[in-house]
Amino acid sequence: MVRRDVPPAGAVRPTSSVPANVPPVRDPHDPSDGPANAPASRPAPVRGNAAVPARYEPQPPVVVVPQQPTPDSAPDVAPAAPPSDTPPDAGYGAEPPASTYVSRETPTREEDDPPLAMEAMRAVQILNPSGEVTMPRPERTRVMCVANQKGGVGKTTTTVNLAVALALHGNRVLVVDLDPQGNASTGLNVPHHTGVPDVYDCLIDSVPLEEVAQAVEGIPNLWCVPATIDLAGAEIELVSVVARESRLARAIAAYPGHFDYVFIDCPPSLGLLTVNALVAAQEVLIPIQCEYYALEGLNQLIQNINLVRQHLNPKLEVSTILLTMYDRRTRLADAVEQDVRNHFGDKVLQSVIPRNVRVSEAPSYGQSVMTYDPGSRGATSYFEAAQEIAERGVKEPVSRNA
Ligand SMILES: Nc1ncnc2c1ncn2[C@@H]1O[C@H](COP(=O)(O)OP(=O)(O)OP(=O)(O)O)[C@@H](O)[C@H]1O
Ligand SMILES: [Mg+2]
Repeated sequence: MVRRDVPPAGAVRPTSSVPANVPPVRDPHDPSDGPANAPASRPAPVRGNAAVPARYEPQPPVVVVPQQPTPDSAPDVAPAAPPSDTPPDAGYGAEPPASTYVSRETPTREEDDPPLAMEAMRAVQILNPSGEVTMPRPERTRVMCVANQKGGVGKTTTTVNLAVALALHGNRVLVVDLDPQGNASTGLNVPHHTGVPDVYDCLIDSVPLEEVAQAVEGIPNLWCVPATIDLAGAEIELVSVVARESRLARAIAAYPGHFDYVFIDCPPSLGLLTVNALVAAQEVLIPIQCEYYALEGLNQLIQNINLVRQHLNPKLEVSTILLTMYDRRTRLADAVEQDVRNHFGDKVLQSVIPRNVRVSEAPSYGQSVMTYDPGSRGATSYFEAAQEIAERGVKEPVSRNA
């Protein structure tokens, strides 16, 4: 097996970017940001044995059913989370209904971490209190490539949050982290330090995906194929490999996981890794940041998609455009939205993701914003986007071309 020799320093997985005793910095652009002294900084969860990843084991899909609070147990002041000395199931029924839920955007007191699964259950209660919203499972696996060669537009954030939202509502979801930065693995709190079997092994050494996929802790139905720093060498090593553009497609096709969704988080480039993602997918999801340079480079991406469709993957289409980091106070964001809607029409989701400080804080706690702060505007927007994607998947099966 050919592997890059990686210095140990680069192999250390970041835990929390927020020092323990430093309060989070307020986002001056976010009017919803709470007071500067909250929320309390919390250390990233520590995993038992990071070197031995959990393996994928087929399980029936689990739907997290919201549990309604009983009137007797409802507290006067709704706690954001059960205290740490409360047994896991005691007091869960006492969770506040959505109407009394206080988002961490306006925190009232410091709380300890509940277990991750409790966070997930609580997220569903808050986002979907009546349980009315369903995210129907598609007939066939939808493989979605989340791509935009422009950096920092929200590809990873979108991948992680849509995946969590769909998984929390009964869909079986696999996230393939195809970016050597490993941000999706970090965001899902999946070990991805050097030595952990990763997507590099699948691409270069034909290791089956099920041998490297890890169950995401606390989120039922969600698995992640992590990326380690080894993947940085794959772009060059792939050049001399047989069927170099379709290595990922073959690996996904051979995976017996029966997923409803496979999200592939691409790096900010149009190299062989992104080409592998485009060949493996039926759909491209392009996150577009509502900023001045947002549309620059999009033509190049669309041309590449067209080339891949012509030569390698006739099923490929741009199915979904998602506007991210929308700042409603600026006219620019509005202008970008209009431009994108005029150009891409109904491929653009109605849901728009606002710039929201909770979205950017969540990864430093190894969480999606869906579980980190389900009441925040970031979480509710991603929840709505996931719902739209799920509904489109059953109403109008993939047919349009970019
Ligand atoms: N809606 C949002 N509100 C505030 N911050 C956001 C939002 N979406 C993303 N961010 C932040 O913007 C930065 C870039 O986001 P992200 O990593 O998802 O982009 P990316 O396109 O995957 O980047 P790259 O091209 O490097 O892979 C991150 O710090 C992320 O936390
Ligand atoms: Mg990314």
